Amino acid sequence: MKPFTVMFVADICGKPGRQAVAHLLKPLREKYEVDYVIANIENSAGGFGITPEMSQKFFTYGVNVQTSGNHIWDRVQILDYIGTTPRLLRPANFPSGVPGSGLYVDTIGDFKIATINLMGRVYMANTDCPFKKADAILDRIGDVHAVFVDFHAEATSEKQAMAYYLDGKVSAVVGTHTHVPTADEKVSTRGTAYITDAGMTGPHKSIIGMDIGPSVGRFLTAMPKRFSTASEDVKIMGVIVKINREDGSAISIERYSEDFNLADFQSGSIGIEED
Ligand SMILES: [Fe+2]
Ligand SMILES: [Fe+2]
Repeated sequence: MKPFTVMFVADICGKPGRQAVAHLLKPLREKYEVDYVIANIENSAGGFGITPEMSQKFFTYGVNVQTSGNHIWDRVQILDYIGTTPRLLRPANFPSGVPGSGLYVDTIGDFKIATINLMGRVYMANTDCPFKKADAILDRIGDVHAVFVDFHAEATSEKQAMAYYLDGKVSAVVGTHTHVPTADEKVSTRGTAYITDAGMTGPHKSIIGMDIGPSVGRFLTAMPKRFSTASEDVKIMGVIVKINREDGSAISIERYSEDFNLADFQSGSIGIEED
């Protein structure tokens, strides 16, 4: 039986990242015979959050579910939108009462897949425990074939701990937030795929997606600087996870990275990421 193939798109950063997704997601879906796309969109709006309009466009480009992280609230318009858009997730372990949800259960054909978004607590906001929250969600999730976790965290140790904590209980734990891909992708003997960080979809001649000058300046001066998205060396990247349709175990996890040059697409193509 053909595996169920999930394509994860790492943190989409700014207009260059949105343009790369607009133009390359559909061809990549075909290339890897993808059944389902999960994209972390937390940096879509100039590096800080996402607008409802951008979120809507990502769905038209072929994204099934959007995950996020610490930047999800950066654009105030998202507060109302997230409550009406269950396919846009925020980390599930935000305190109760926060708008939105960190879980989405979807059915593709006869295959049921749950996406869970969690956020770490090391060098990040003091949210509820992501480990206990994962337990609580898995307890009430019901019958699904596969569970895909985007664990948005700064510390490598916390991400590895989550992978071992959920080992054998979920199909994949994919780390996000640092914007730098790691080379430790693996499938455990109990069938859980893992990578510490999937990287970033956006400009890689940058400091984690932002212009180099102000970022270096902040380290030199310890003063706040105005940041804007960089523009060069744009890539779409992430991982492809193949899942056994019978038991939800991961079969493989593979990194992908494709260069994006807007000039290759200027004439007669989508060209819709103008803002
Ligand atoms: Fe990010
Ligand atoms: Fe983040």
